[in-house]
Formats: sequence, structure tokens, C-alpha cells
Amino acid sequence: MRISFISFGAMAILAAVAAGQKPVVNYDESKAGSYTLPNPLVMSSGEPVRDARAWREKRRPEILHLFEENVYGRTPTGRPPAMHFKRVERSASALGGKAVRKQITVYFKRDESGPAIDLLLYLPKNARGRVPVFLGLNFNGNQAIHADPGIRLSRAWIRENRPMGIVNHRATEAARGVESTRWQVEEILERGYGVATACYGDIDPDFDDGFQNGVQPLFYKPGQTRPAPNEWGAIGAWAWGLSRLLDYLETDKDVDARRVAVLGHSRLGKTALWAGAQDERFAMVISNNSGEGGASLARRNFGETVEILNRNFPHWFCANYRQYSKNVAALPVDQHMLIALAAPRPVYIASAEEDRWADPRGEFLAAKAADPVYRLLGTDGLAASDWPPVGQPVSSRIGYHIRSGKHDVTLYDWQQYLNFADKYLKTGR
Ligand code: GCU
Repeated sequence: MRISFISFGAMAILAAVAAGQKPVVNYDESKAGSYTLPNPLVMSSGEPVRDARAWREKRRPEILHLFEENVYGRTPTGRPPAMHFKRVERSASALGGKAVRKQITVYFKRDESGPAIDLLLYLPKNARGRVPVFLGLNFNGNQAIHADPGIRLSRAWIRENRPMGIVNHRATEAARGVESTRWQVEEILERGYGVATACYGDIDPDFDDGFQNGVQPLFYKPGQTRPAPNEWGAIGAWAWGLSRLLDYLETDKDVDARRVAVLGHSRLGKTALWAGAQDERFAMVISNNSGEGGASLARRNFGETVEILNRNFPHWFCANYRQYSKNVAALPVDQHMLIALAAPRPVYIASAEEDRWADPRGEFLAAKAADPVYRLLGTDGLAASDWPPVGQPVSSRIGYHIRSGKHDVTLYDWQQYLNFADKYLKTGR
């Protein structure tokens, strides 16, 4: 069977064309425009940020707040009081004896009604002590990440994809292993790491239903029916879900929860960056091809734009974000400041050469513009002044690579993340 991942970029363009609006997408570097980025080391008041303490106590909270109010929306603080974990399965000898497999369900209500997240965790079989773990959400259900028949079929709402075994928005047996190239489980385990994942649809199904079916309603005040204009959308909910999964990992004695890397691809790469920004328990943050609204600069007009994002995915961001659709220059932040919110923790930004929709150069430039914050905090920042050639990773505390090929997560990407983790995560912080 030939499996092809849908190009969401192409779909978005087709949808816009069908709706009679011709999206203006620029792919000409000479027309990317000129812009001035907000300075991450100057307070909104104009006061310069001179030391680590001023960053920590003043500017960092200010930037976080600006992203909440204008981009992703505010996330409720605290866990639902009735949240609890249930281990539903464990195998001491999965994947031909290479792994310990655990499956856990996170419930938010005492009676276990409403949204629940099914977590899949693989740990290296003969680990000595607690292991560091990569945690990321998946698109097509846990069973998609590996052909292992022991993985429970996802119960989430998933985007229809018959060639990949997603029928009537549900995973079928045919959906086993269909996304396995994106999750190099054996490679990860061999290198001494665990891997944990859950389907993003468990947290908030990825369509615009007015925020009735995800985790948002758990937090509505009496009479509230949807998030306020400065409250979380789907990306905020997915990021919140990652923190709840980390809550579980903190309880698992086989996991070193102080060494968890949060990662994601594409819209889930945007999500990983936002999760890492809000929740400093994540020891490392990895953004794979996250593009517009993720690692790439909003002010650069190349590939997807804020306007296109808001038009095609109105449920991802907070409603306030829409006011910038036609005026990105008015945004009080740009995406380099999101990367800087990971500082001084190691952060990795990965691009793909053919992923022009995500503006690979804009991803690099954002990583570069986060460098002064990392340096102020005493790290080496991003050790590259120019955009590196394809296939030549930069492994400073802000890591970066651009690989050949399309919008995807590949073995090459994983190998770089593992090398990066060996350097910054294995030895502790
Ligand atoms: C679309 C969207 C991107 C997003 C991508 C994905 O292409 O325009 O912003 O990153 O889908 O999540 O695959």
C-alpha cells in the first residue's frame, strides 16, 4: 500500500480557491519584505533588559503574557481536581523484547465521562534507573506510530484519511503503523530514551466546533459557552494536554521527569513550542517544521501568513489573533520571542528544504533572533551567523538544521534530536 501524507498547505490553497478567494502566497525571497522585529531584550516600556534577573522577573513574564493575550490565548491554571491516571496495560517485553510498554488513560472527571487522553509509553527494556523521555502528540492515533499489535486503537476523532485507515474519523486496524516513519521508536529506545505519545484529537478534536468537544468546556465558568477572545484555542488546549501528560510522567518511577523533551511536527510543533514556553518543567523543546504560528517569523512574507492561518484554522489560536491578519506589524511579539521563552533550556528548530509553506529561512531567522536572550543567560545561543547548508546541523544550545525533502519527520530528524539530547539532556541540566 502506498501511503501519502496529505499536504495541508495544498489543501488550504484548494479550499481558499474553492471559496473564491485567491490567497496571495509569496515564494519569492526578494519579496519577503523588510520588517523590524520587536526586541526581546527591551521591555514594552522601552526599558532595556540588562541582566538575567530582569529577563526572568520582568521581560519573560511580559512576553508570555503578550503571547497569551494576542496569539494562543490564556490557558487555565491548575489541573482539574478530579484528574486521575489509570494504567490500562503493561507489557514487560514489547517490540520483540526491546521495550517495556505502558498504556495509561488520563481522566479529568471522577466519573470518567468527558475527554480522556490515552497515553502510550515505551521505555528501553533494560534501562538502569529512570530514563529521559521524548513526549509528543501524534495526528492519527497511538496505533499509527508503530505496527505493534499491542497498542490500543485510538478512540479519538481523527481527520478522515482512508488510505491511512482512518474511516468515519476513527482509527481502524488498517491504521496500525501508518505514521511509523515519523516515530523512530527502535532507534530512540536503542539510544537509551523512552518515548511517550498521545493523539491530539483526545485533547481537542481538530475542527472548528465552537469549542464544545475538547477540554475547554471543563473550565467554562457558569454561563460560558466558548473561550473569551484572549482565552485558549486548540493549540492552547493541546499544549495544556502535554503538561497533563507530563504530570503523569512525574508519577512514573521508570521516567526521569526532569529530563523530558517536548516535541512536535507542524501544527503540533507550534504546540510543542507553546507548551515549552508555558511549562518550564519541560527540559528541552523541539519544533519540527512548525512554520507560521510556530518557529517562523510572522513579519516575513513568505509561504503561509497569519491571515491564511486565521482563515483556514480559526480554532487554533485565540480570537484576538485575528486582528493581526492584515497587520502583522502591529503584533507586539514575533515568533523569535516564543523560541526565547524556552531559554536557557536547549531548544531545537528543524526545517525542511521543500517545506516552503513553512518558510524554512524564517524559521532559521527566528532562531537567530532568539540568540541574544540565550547569550544574556550565559549560553552559546545559536552558533551560526548564516543559514547553514542543507544537512549541516548546528548543535549549540539553540539547535537548528535544514534537511533535504518535504514537510515530514524523518529518521534524519530523529537522529539529530537524539544527538542533541545526548549533548544536553542525558547529562542533566
Ligand atoms: C497546514 C497549516 C500549517 C500547519 C500544517 C500541519 O499546512 O497551514 O500551519 O503547520 O497544516 O499541521 O501539517
